Amino acid sequence: MRMVDIIEKKRDGQVLTKEEIEFFITGYTNGDIPDYQASSLAMAVFFQDMNDEERAALTMAMVNSGDVIDLSDIHGTKVDKHSTGGVGDTTTLVLAPLVAAVGVPVAKMSGRGLGHTGGTIDKLESVEGFHVEISEEKFVKLVNEAKVAVIGQTGNLTPADKKLYGLRDVTGTVNSIPLIASSIMSKKIAAGADAIVLDVKTGNGAFMKTLEDAEALAHAMVSIGNNVGRNTMAIISDMGQPLGHAIGNALEVKEAIETLQGKGPEDLTELVMTLGSQMVVVGGKAKDLEEARALLEKAIQDGSALESFRTFLENQDGDGSVVDDVSKLPQAKYQVALPAESSGFVTEIVANEMGVASMMLGAGRQTKDDDIDLSVGLVLHKKVGDRVDEGEPLLTIHSNRENVDDVIEKLNQSITVSEQGAEPTLIHKIITE
Ligand code: URA
Ligand code: CA
Repeated sequence: MRMVDIIEKKRDGQVLTKEEIEFFITGYTNGDIPDYQASSLAMAVFFQDMNDEERAALTMAMVNSGDVIDLSDIHGTKVDKHSTGGVGDTTTLVLAPLVAAVGVPVAKMSGRGLGHTGGTIDKLESVEGFHVEISEEKFVKLVNEAKVAVIGQTGNLTPADKKLYGLRDVTGTVNSIPLIASSIMSKKIAAGADAIVLDVKTGNGAFMKTLEDAEALAHAMVSIGNNVGRNTMAIISDMGQPLGHAIGNALEVKEAIETLQGKGPEDLTELVMTLGSQMVVVGGKAKDLEEARALLEKAIQDGSALESFRTFLENQDGDGSVVDDVSKLPQAKYQVALPAESSGFVTEIVANEMGVASMMLGAGRQTKDDDIDLSVGLVLHKKVGDRVDEGEPLLTIHSNRENVDDVIEKLNQSITVSEQGAEPTLIHKIITE
């Protein structure tokens, strides 16, 4: 087989065989196929697309390019959730203990945050003592007993994707549905997921700017999943503004606890219930989304979801009593209110910029080795569509430095108050296919 023939075949709009796709991925991973041929093929795929079989073959070839986490000792259907990006996205913190409480095993491998989006591990580490450095044996044991555990990234997962994503980044081939979909799905499958639920974000600040593109990506990932034997569902949700009220590590843990108590922000709660219902269905614990939602609502009402979070924290040496007393979480020294500059309706809160403001306070990392301040961040009091009077606080800045003028300037540029407002749509589409 010759790489040049594969490139020409795709260039001319023909369908590649599974063997040709495997030849490319294997050769590219081990260095036999050079970057220039790989980038040429990526560009051909960008223009000519791939059919469902090619997408599935590409995904599995990338899965098999490195280690695959073996979770077969964990009983039940392991369900993983993936979001295509979010600021102040507290959903994982709520979903993991919540769906575990209704019997769906959550074996989560997670990373730290980089840039303005926070990582789940960083957030959890704001609970005193909690850590993710546990052995694989302990990880498996905890998931079997308590249905939920989180471990730090291990192994050499999907090296082909790492290499190809880096190449695409500098060759104008990132924005291709078959390439994005196979990239995301390969990572989930290599991490051991039997079933997958996807939260595809759209709108200002999201990867997929239009609803149409987001829908195409969601459908692409759902068909890949179902074609390779992983039950997969998706939703398309809006990220025109941050989710919930809290942005920042400890602040988001507090918000997660409140949500597990049934007192969370409306949008976060709705997103959690929608994604959670899909997780319960693909995890085989309910026959349809309504039945799943009823189970989740009961787990919140009877306190079992909150207890699941406590047990999860304690199992990994964290102080579980934070669920009774959130003041045990790290607190910032200063709280500064940001007053509205005029009266009207909030029409825009740019999610990415809120993430950047929170990073300026020390909540995020610029480089991989930076230390982060777990206590700082923002708490929104107004969301898009809300009425506000001049001088009324839009949000509170939680800071460990007294002067936050730079942050205030950034925030004022990123929040718009106008005379007319409208309630935003949170969930655009539910894709069960
Ligand atoms: N995120 C990924 O993981 N892969 C892509 O190709 C694009 C976004
Ligand atoms: Ca939040």
